[in-house]
Amino acid sequence: MPLVPMKQILDEAMKENYGVGAFNVNNMEQLQGIMSAAKDTASPVIVQASRGALKYTNMYYIKHMVAAAVEDNPEVPISLHLDHGNSLETCKLAISLGFTSVMIDGSLKEDSKTPTTFDENVEVTRAVVDYAHGFGVTVEGELGTLGGIEDGVGSGKVKLTDPDEAVKFIKATGIDALALAIGTSHGAYKFKARPELAMNIISEVRSRVPDTPLVMHGSSSVPKDLVDIVNRYGGAIPDAMGVPIESIQEAIKLGIKKINVDTDGRLAMTGAIRKFLAENPSEFDPRSYFGAARQAVYEVVKGKMIAFGTAGHMGDYKPTTLDEIKKLYAI
Ligand code: G3H
Ligand code: 13P
Ligand code: ZN
Repeated sequence: MPLVPMKQILDEAMKENYGVGAFNVNNMEQLQGIMSAAKDTASPVIVQASRGALKYTNMYYIKHMVAAAVEDNPEVPISLHLDHGNSLETCKLAISLGFTSVMIDGSLKEDSKTPTTFDENVEVTRAVVDYAHGFGVTVEGELGTLGGIEDGVGSGKVKLTDPDEAVKFIKATGIDALALAIGTSHGAYKFKARPELAMNIISEVRSRVPDTPLVMHGSSSVPKDLVDIVNRYGGAIPDAMGVPIESIQEAIKLGIKKINVDTDGRLAMTGAIRKFLAENPSEFDPRSYFGAARQAVYEVVKGKMIAFGTAGHMGDYKPTTLDEIKKLYAI
C-alpha cells in the first residue's frame, strides 16, 4: 500500500469514532517498533517527523526509512506527516520529500517561539492549504498555544483555543484538521497535579464544525513505570507527569481524532537502553540495546493503539491516492 493522505485516515476515524496515534520518528528502531505495533494490532498509523527529525536524519533518511516501512508493511495504511511546520517553505520541502500531510503551526511565528495574531495565523495557514491541496496533501493547523518548550520550540505560555475563533479559523483557512490547545504541553513535565483539561473546548468546536477532525498535541501519558525504569538505571527525571489515558479516551469520544505522542517513545527507548546496558555491562553490540529499545517502543505504541480504539481498523477501507484527494479538493 502506498502512503495515504492523512485526511483519509482521520475521516475514517471520524466515521467510527476512534483515535489514531501520530508517533514521532527519528530513527529506524523507533519506526520499526511503531510499524510492528500497527501490524500486530491491525491499526492504521500516522508517522510524523518534526523539523528536528528532518535535520537529524538529513531528510533523505527519514524519507527512505518510511519508504522501507511501507514496503515492509504493505497492509498497513500509513501517513507521513510533518509535525509543527514553521513556514510555507518547510511545508513545501516536506511535500517535495513525499510527505502526505503537513502541519503548519501558525500559532507561532517562523521562529517557533513568538505567538502570532489570529490574522497572521490565517494568512500563513491559508497559503499552506492552497499549496498543499494542489498536491492532494492534507493540512493540519493550530489555534492557541501549548505550554512547554521542546528543543526550543514553543512560546512556553498556554493560550487555550477560543471556540468562536476556531470556527472562524477552519472556515477561513480550509484546513483538514485543527490542533486545539486544551491545557496540555509538550514533554515529560506537563502537570504538577492531576490535570484538568478543557474538554468543553473540544465539545464546543465539534458541535459547530462536526466534519473537521480535531488534534491533541502533548498527549504522552508519561507512564510511571517507564519513568521509574529510567530513574532506576541512572536517569534523573523527577516528578514527571503526563495526560492520563482515560482523559485521552474521553477526548476521543468528544472529537479528538489525532493524538500526538513523542515523549512516551523517548522514555521507553531511554529506559530500555539504560536497563540493558546496566544489566549487560560487557555487551557492546549496538543491535542488542537498540533491539531492546525497539521492543520497548513496540509495547508502548501497541498499548496506545488498543487504548485509542485504533486496533482492528486497518482493513476497513481501500487506500486512496493523493491524486484522488486532489480532485476532491478541486471541486
Ligand atoms: O512537538 C514536538 C515534538 O515532540 C518534536 O520534538 O522537535 O525535539 O523532535 P523535537
Ligand atoms: P508529547 O511531548 O506529549 O509526546 O507530545 C508530542 C507532540 O505533541 C508532537 O507534536
Ligand atoms: Zn506538538
